[in-house]
Amino acid sequence: MADPSPNACFSLAGRVALVTGSSTGLGRATARCLGMAGAKVAINYANSQPRAEEALSDLRASGIRAGVFQADVTSADEIERMFSAIEDSLGPVDIVVVNATPPQPLKPIEEYDWAFYQQMLDFFVKSPYLLARRALPGMKARKHGRFINITSEVFHLGVAPFSAYVAAKGGQTGWSRSMCHELAPFGITVNMIAPGWIPVERHENDPQEDKDAYLATVPMQRWGKPEEVGWAAVYLASDQAAFVTGQTIAINGGKTCW
Ligand SMILES: NC(=O)c1ccc[n+]([C@@H]2O[C@H](COP(=O)([O-])OP(=O)(O)OC[C@H]3O[C@@H](n4cnc5c(N)ncnc54)[C@H](OP(=O)(O)O)[C@@H]3O)[C@@H](O)[C@H]2O)c1
Repeated sequence: MADPSPNACFSLAGRVALVTGSSTGLGRATARCLGMAGAKVAINYANSQPRAEEALSDLRASGIRAGVFQADVTSADEIERMFSAIEDSLGPVDIVVVNATPPQPLKPIEEYDWAFYQQMLDFFVKSPYLLARRALPGMKARKHGRFINITSEVFHLGVAPFSAYVAAKGGQTGWSRSMCHELAPFGITVNMIAPGWIPVERHENDPQEDKDAYLATVPMQRWGKPEEVGWAAVYLASDQAAFVTGQTIAINGGKTCW
């Protein structure tokens, strides 16, 4: 066995990480964990600049080199503009965490329209595709890259009434599995993190009975913490995970096993 190196604790020093939708929630926590591991971090948001600036201040207060990059990650033009700005400011992107999401209302199928289905597919299938197309030439040239797709336990569980979101997360999972095979020869890994329900800012006003009912199904009998998603991302982004691709890490206290 090789001697432990200074890199033995999943250091991301010298890497640049983009986390889409990292002004709040799981993305913000993931950005912080990647930064704590030494990466330079690109915080992305589309709509609320004050929240993104607050996230940036928080990271900088911890000594993390970071910047805020506004872009709608379902738009190819905006992704191009964002990547150019990140490259100018932080350097080439080594790690892409596909995380951004719009609101996700649960509804019986008769109440969804196709526009909402399309929006889910735009976030969870089109956006990973566009991000990969933009990031890949540089990653292939450097023979290194990390894609970490934030999926969800709902695909495994078939949660209802949630058909549009579950279908799109299924699409994201299938895309990740295919990309893992396509990109493995280039030293580029594609993995997934599938959180259970981890309450974030947007869940503050959700009904208490819904929260109680979910918690009763979690074998560990506690809520997950956003940073528990972030630390899994640090591992998958690290050099030590170079031989791990096409895998899903469920962060849900044992609610799914596969
Ligand atoms: N939290 C959970 O319980 C849970 C469970 C399973 C899976 N997940 C998955 O984890 C990911 C994060 O979820 P979350 O709960 O942390 O969400 P969240 O707190 O609502 O954060 C969503 C983020 O996406 C950004 N965003 C929205 N539209 C965007 C766009 N067009 N382009 C770029 N950024 C955009 C938001 O910023 P602006 O509003 O400023 O644009 C915000 O930063 C999602 O993929 C979700 O499906 C979450």
